[in-house]
Amino acid sequence: MKWHVLRPLWVAIGLVAAILVARLFLVPDDFGIHGRNFTYGFYRLSNVQEWKDFPVKYQGRETCVECHEENVQSLNNSPHAAVECENCHGPGVNHPDVVELLPIDTTRELCLRCHASLGYPHSAREQAPQISNRMHKRRRECSECHNPHKPQGDET
Ligand code: HEC
Ligand code: HEC
Ligand code: HEC
Ligand code: HEC
Repeated sequence: MKWHVLRPLWVAIGLVAAILVARLFLVPDDFGIHGRNFTYGFYRLSNVQEWKDFPVKYQGRETCVECHEENVQSLNNSPHAAVECENCHGPGVNHPDVVELLPIDTTRELCLRCHASLGYPHSAREQAPQISNRMHKRRRECSECHNPHKPQGDET
């Protein structure tokens, strides 16, 4: 055969050999040893444990009730029952070990995420009553008048 045909062949063989050698060093020891289940063993066994150890950021109000029973009671019996504590306070993963990590946000923006008037159709307004940021008690914090854990909607 002519050289110009053979040369690319050697290059290809060399490449495959290099990949096989590299694979020996790069593939983790516990790759594919977990039997041929639905992924055909195509994953790293220790990855399962890594995900089990992954810290869950959001805890849910079931954990808050242990120490903040009053807040949970109040929230559960209010129009805000469907809103999670951590929706307003942020993820409780390191709380209460580091209390500062759960800062209290009293800005209007916190509430306007859900209550800003966006001109949606009427049905959406019924889901979360909407107010106009510019018209509704401008420049005052919402929680001056509304209890975030028990909003009434008819505060005086
Ligand atoms: C093991 C007890 C415990 C649990 C569980 C707990 N907290 Fe707390 N929390 C505390 C303590 C202690 C403080 C600090 C003292 C205080 O302000 O009452 C605190 C303070 C707070 C504060 C005020 C933070 C600040 O900057 O002043 C918020 C908001 C809060 N917790 C929300 C939550 C939420 C939401 C959850 C559920 C995800 C939760 N906590 C779960 C014990 C707990
Ligand atoms: C709609 C938003 C929102 C939700 C939902 C919410 N909070 Fe709050 N929370 C606030 C705001 C705003 C303040 C500050 C109120 C103020 O300073 O007048 C606050 C204050 C607090 C405080 C400190 C003052 C206090 O009342 O003791 C704690 C603790 C707290 N929240 C815990 C919780 C827990 C636990 C839940 C869930 C059961 C929860 N919050 C749900 C917005 C919220
Ligand atoms: C995650 C979305 C969300 C956030 C954030 C939120 N709300 Fe609400 N809020 C709702 C929903 C949904 C309703 C309507 C519940 C219903 O009528 O069933 C509601 C209802 C209300 C009402 C009317 C209550 C009534 O009796 O009709 C007031 C007032 C209110 N929220 C104030 C606030 C204030 C103040 C804040 C900020 C501290 C806030 N909300 C943050 C979702 C939210
Ligand atoms: C000065 C006190 C005060 C402040 C500050 C205030 N509100 Fe109100 N809010 C009221 C009063 C009073 C009502 C009932 C009468 C009305 O609609 O004006 C009300 C009604 C509402 C309603 C119910 C509207 C409806 O259609 O049922 C929502 C939602 C609301 N406020 C959200 C907020 C949010 C979000 C903020 C902050 C951006 C805020 N309020 C700031 C006093 C206040």
